[in-house]
Amino acid sequence: MSYPKRLIEVDLPIKRISAHARREKSIRHGHISTLHIWWARRPLAACRAVICAALWPDPADPDCPAAFRKRAASEMQRWATHDRQSLLSEESRSRFEKARKRPELFKDAEELRSALLDFIADFANWDNSTVKEYLDTSRALTQAAHEALGGTPGTRPLVVDPFAGGGSIPLEALRVGADAFASDLNPVPVLLNKVVLEYIPKHGQRLADEVRKWGEWIKQEAETELAEFYPKDPDGATPIAYLWARTIQCEGPGCGAEVPLIRSLWLAKKSNRSVALQLVPRPRAKRVDFQIITKQRGGWVNQNDPNEKVADPKFDGTVKRGSATCPCCGYTTPVARLREQIKSQRGGANHACMFCVVTTKAGEQGRAFRSPVERDLKVVQKSRQELQRRRKAHSGKISLVPDEQVDIRGVRHTWAMIYGLNSWGDYFTDRQLLALTTLTRLVEEVAIKTAKGHEVGLGVATQTILALGVSRIADIANSLCTWKPSMTQAIHLFARQAVPMTWDFAETSLLSDAAGDYGTTIGNMLRILEGELAVGGNGKAEQSSACEHRLPDDSVDLFLTDPPYYDAVPYAYLADFFYVWLRRSLGRSYAELFAAPAVPKDAEIVVDRPHELSNSTHDIAFYERELTRAFAEGRRVAKPEALGTIVFASKTTASWEAILKAVVDAGWIITGSWPIDTEMETRVSAQGQARLASSVHLVCRPRENPDGSVRTDEVGDWRDVLTELPRRIHDWMPRLADEGVVGADAIFACLGPALEVFSRYSRVEKASGETVPLGEYLVQVWAAVAKEALTMIFTGADATGFEEDARLTAMWLWTLKTGDANGADREVGEEDHGDEEENGKKGGSGGLALEFDAARKIAQGLGAHLEDLGTLVEVAGETARLLPVADRAQSLFGKDGGKAASVHKKRGPQMELFKGAQDSDQTEATFGDTKVEKAGATVLDRVHQSMILFAAGRTEALKRFLVEDAAGNDTRFWTLAQALSALYPASTDEKRWVDGVLARKKGLGF
Ligand SMILES: C[S@@+](CC[C@H](N)C(=O)[O-])C[C@H]1O[C@@H](n2cnc3c(N)ncnc32)[C@H](O)[C@@H]1O
Repeated sequence: MSYPKRLIEVDLPIKRISAHARREKSIRHGHISTLHIWWARRPLAACRAVICAALWPDPADPDCPAAFRKRAASEMQRWATHDRQSLLSEESRSRFEKARKRPELFKDAEELRSALLDFIADFANWDNSTVKEYLDTSRALTQAAHEALGGTPGTRPLVVDPFAGGGSIPLEALRVGADAFASDLNPVPVLLNKVVLEYIPKHGQRLADEVRKWGEWIKQEAETELAEFYPKDPDGATPIAYLWARTIQCEGPGCGAEVPLIRSLWLAKKSNRSVALQLVPRPRAKRVDFQIITKQRGGWVNQNDPNEKVADPKFDGTVKRGSATCPCCGYTTPVARLREQIKSQRGGANHACMFCVVTTKAGEQGRAFRSPVERDLKVVQKSRQELQRRRKAHSGKISLVPDEQVDIRGVRHTWAMIYGLNSWGDYFTDRQLLALTTLTRLVEEVAIKTAKGHEVGLGVATQTILALGVSRIADIANSLCTWKPSMTQAIHLFARQAVPMTWDFAETSLLSDAAGDYGTTIGNMLRILEGELAVGGNGKAEQSSACEHRLPDDSVDLFLTDPPYYDAVPYAYLADFFYVWLRRSLGRSYAELFAAPAVPKDAEIVVDRPHELSNSTHDIAFYERELTRAFAEGRRVAKPEALGTIVFASKTTASWEAILKAVVDAGWIITGSWPIDTEMETRVSAQGQARLASSVHLVCRPRENPDGSVRTDEVGDWRDVLTELPRRIHDWMPRLADEGVVGADAIFACLGPALEVFSRYSRVEKASGETVPLGEYLVQVWAAVAKEALTMIFTGADATGFEEDARLTAMWLWTLKTGDANGADREVGEEDHGDEEENGKKGGSGGLALEFDAARKIAQGLGAHLEDLGTLVEVAGETARLLPVADRAQSLFGKDGGKAASVHKKRGPQMELFKGAQDSDQTEATFGDTKVEKAGATVLDRVHQSMILFAAGRTEALKRFLVEDAAGNDTRFWTLAQALSALYPASTDEKRWVDGVLARKKGLGF
């Protein structure tokens, strides 16, 4: 049976939706992402647009029910009035203005489709998400579509997300007038979804009022109880953060000094303010003191005595790559010994030394820095004693302080544990534990006080939000929070998707009336509650595995989900950090959800990359098998006419192959795919690495017989598939380019259309009757994509005229290209306090890196073999690097050329993309009296030779090479140089050099 296509199977305004999705990432206040940390949240903009386009039929489809077409036309016509038009974007307005003048316009089904797509694009805007007119229209269209497509009048379509995470998809389903069912294996997101889908719609403003009332009560009680542990300064200043360094004992011969582990000595590093520490060794006393210095017009001075100048201030701390150098004797305690010492202190948070107190004062701007005094240390001692007392007095079923063990299988992501942070309580100082256990107890008290309320469930809903507030505080009140001098503030732990070790840390005051205290946290959460009051409907959130749903067969209208992306986020290992606190504050109210000591991990569908300390069996086979089960379960619950949409993003070919196989094997046909760019413009992941801005939305339909079994009778001919594949790619690539999707994003975005061709059939057979496995098809897909990309790169030129090294280089550079919309700047973590020992291992040695398998497949597709291109590409482990041109000097100019190449240090942005992540020193190659003994064998070699000559300032040699040696007579030389100029990342040496060569072209008569 055929069903009318939904809009998403025909078109989607991805560029406009992407722009809204990117913008939304910078919205902090009132956005559900700020309710609590959850990783890899989908932007609401993308979810909203996709749900509308997946629920609403395409009015231009011949099978579209007339009732929907009629309703859609009348709804769109309402937007033609001046009043409504003012709510539309510039891009949409002209169409509606036309409709105002010609009311019959939307009788044209194509115009109507365009109007709906315009509406969807505008509704994706965060600013419109609570505007009544947008909500009314979307809900009317959702209901009309549902009923026109056979839904029982009065019911609503059901949208299901079994990997619900932070709940973006089900929240947006409710917003546009559908019912939503959200489930997740992990108890933390289950709670988040309960708040958003059940509690806010059910209790509305009353919930906000209760949270405000009891939040204030907890704040007051906590302040009274904890005030003595966070005293104000005698001059009225309020300490907002205490800065600490873990310590070891120097193992240098005869030294034994206490060495503070501190990475950088900066305290404030802003355009208008510079404050730092200086280490003052006290060898006799076997310790190190600190002096605070500040920069004034005349230079650096002692903060306490501005007349005392500091001539040669130092800013590097004591630790580098995991080993620590003693300021007293200069001895460097090696990594292994440092780790042993910290391990024996269970991570050392309670053996740390306080080196600075950051304060604010009413009526004074900015933050002040002072040295700790006796009083500061005394209250720390007092809090330790008080915690001890409470621990002894505690009689609850579970310990006062979380003693649950950190799961060793997550060590790749939670590697702080190798420093002896074995239980989750070890991640906090005693004072932090005192404060967090106090808040946790107060939340439980609220539960008791509100238990007899009049409104069923309101008490638990209130308690849940208050408990999430405490859990949020744990994120900024632990001993892995770092101090960020450029912002003069503490950075919460989960700014990264990891639990890395940090040597120095910032302990924020929980009573400072600033970000990170309980009152402010609850205030921010209230903004979300009150912002989302317009979202009503029937929502349900449950804990369950995506592989085993309790929903009946054929009950779901839209199966829309965003499964874990392979090994990208280790949700369960990270979520334990929060779970242990929520278990203490909510365990009684959600007995089942919090029965276990830790988040369930065995059934979590992620890949755990191997680690010597981990015995995890979550390999790629597990991931593929379990995803297949989850998608098959999705198909079981989906109605025969339902749509599935699966969101995925990954830059590894293996993970793409796994997910596509799972979709196809689970009995879905891919009928469309859309990349939506969701990355903020300033973010680029790793330097010189292919990065992804987009996630691809794979649109699917169940491949089913009327009885629900998977159809197996549609057999495709391999030759037909192979003929259609390049055509599909050829049609799709230019559209992607138009929408700003390029490079690796475009490569992966081609998988959808490619799979449309293949998954249309139950199986594809060769003439011999042999079934073609998906893997074999994908080899053809990579080749077709590479070939198509190459024709786009060498527009107007025959790419086959180039040798394989040129084709591979061009394709490689194109793959690493990012869309204009995304910029190419990276976030420079100048004060990245990460565990350097761990980070140090990641240091690359320059060049443009691609995942090895992706590089291999691209090469294969171009008829090249990486192993034959040793002077161009270097393979190390899972990474392949396109060598910087400078590194090719020796192979291109022979031994002497190599020798002649000298390297001098230079700082600056020039070769950023070509350097390893940890090395900020830039190098520039200079080439002495380089003589071109022999022109390179290929066009690429010759272009690179000329670039090197240009870089060396060897103008005459370059001229001889191009004119007398005739390298420039080959038109391919200039075509390739031109293409490379467009492909080398801006502000790299390569770009500058190739442009330098091109600039000589005319002058030399070419
Ligand atoms: C990519 S996240 C979903 C993010 C979500 N769309 C959002 O916007 O926040 C994937 C989710 O799958 C969950 N998950 C992993 N394995 C699961 C399983 N077997 N069953 C149900 N959920 C699972 C994880 O806990 C995680 O929340």
